[in-house]
Amino acid sequence: MNIIDIICKKRDGGKLTRDEIEFFVKGYTEGTIPDYQASALLMAIFFQKMDKEETFLLAEAMRVSGDVIDLSDIKGIKVDKHSTGGVGDKTTLVVAPLAAACGIPIAKMSGRGLGFTGGTVDKLESIPGFRTALEPEEFLGQVNTIGISVIGQTAHITPADKKIYALRDVTGTVENLSLISSSIMSKKLAAGSDAIVLDVKCGDGAFMKTFEDACALGKTMCEIGESAGKKTVAVITDMSQPLGNAVGNSLEVIEAIETLKGNGPEDITELSIRLAGVMIFVGGKASSPEEGQAMAKAALEDGRGLEKLAAFIKAQGGNPEVINDYSLFPQAQISTEVTADADGFVEEIKAERIGLASQHTGAGRQSKEDAVDLSAGIYVKKKVGDQVSRGEVIAVVYGNDEQKAATGAEEAKKAFRIGNSPVEKPVLIKEILGL
Ligand code: URA
Repeated sequence: MNIIDIICKKRDGGKLTRDEIEFFVKGYTEGTIPDYQASALLMAIFFQKMDKEETFLLAEAMRVSGDVIDLSDIKGIKVDKHSTGGVGDKTTLVVAPLAAACGIPIAKMSGRGLGFTGGTVDKLESIPGFRTALEPEEFLGQVNTIGISVIGQTAHITPADKKIYALRDVTGTVENLSLISSSIMSKKLAAGSDAIVLDVKCGDGAFMKTFEDACALGKTMCEIGESAGKKTVAVITDMSQPLGNAVGNSLEVIEAIETLKGNGPEDITELSIRLAGVMIFVGGKASSPEEGQAMAKAALEDGRGLEKLAAFIKAQGGNPEVINDYSLFPQAQISTEVTADADGFVEEIKAERIGLASQHTGAGRQSKEDAVDLSAGIYVKKKVGDQVSRGEVIAVVYGNDEQKAATGAEEAKKAFRIGNSPVEKPVLIKEILGL
């Protein structure tokens, strides 16, 4: 078999066979297929798409490219949660401790930033000392003792996705239903949980811009999950504007902590409680998602969620004092204010543009080898529907490079559209599939 033939076949709209998909996944993982040929094939898939059968085969080939975790030593129904990626999406940092505080064992593998979206692993690494690489015994032991552990993708689990994900991040091949669903589901199935709750983002700051595309992605992932015998639920949620106010790694961790203290933005708080409610229900600790929601809300209000976050940070080598002292996070040396050009109402905040602006200030990667600036990012002070006055600060850009921060501020300003009439806030939870 020859990779050039496979590239040409897909380029010309052909359907790849199981053998061809396995040949590509194995060859790229082992290094016999170089980046440039893998990039060409990914771009061909991006334009020509894959059908359902090819997508399932790709997910399976990536799932078995490395170890598959056995969580059977952990008691209870293990529930995983995954977001398809958004701007300002720090929900895992809130949802995981809330669900864990309600008795759901959380053994989670998370990703790094991808394209204009952030990743939980980069965010967690902004906590001084926090380790996202744990050996399997430590990972499982921690879930058994404190009920929660979140690790980065190791070299042993879905190494194919690890390499393909990093390549897609820098080759403009992220926004494709088959590539996203196989990437997410290969990891989720290899990570060994019994049930999976997917937060499928929809709108300008998501990879799926329309409701129809987000539903199609959610449906495909539910089918992949169910075919592997895992209860899989997809919650389609709004990403037309950044989620919460903070975008960027340490800024988002601080916002997640504030949310667990009960002071979080409305949208993050509502979404976290809804997602945790679904997890608590599918994990068998509540008789309905509504009851699960009430349990998650109680854990937020009485501080059990925050306590769980502190225990989780400590167990993974992080300094739990960050919860009370935000100066322990990496600090940006530069902050640049973005002001409104007119009186009126915020009609739109283009989330992708904010995500890109944040990435350009240093919060994301431009090439595979880039380190991220954990203190960089954007604090969005006004959200859709808010009234603003001319000259009022609508966002603050943080970074450590004058030029990058200035460009970030210009970009951030372009993301805002201010109009004369009041506008409705977008509906946060649009649909739930698979419940
Ligand atoms: N999250 C993933 O893990 N993979 C994707 O392709 C997109 C979001």
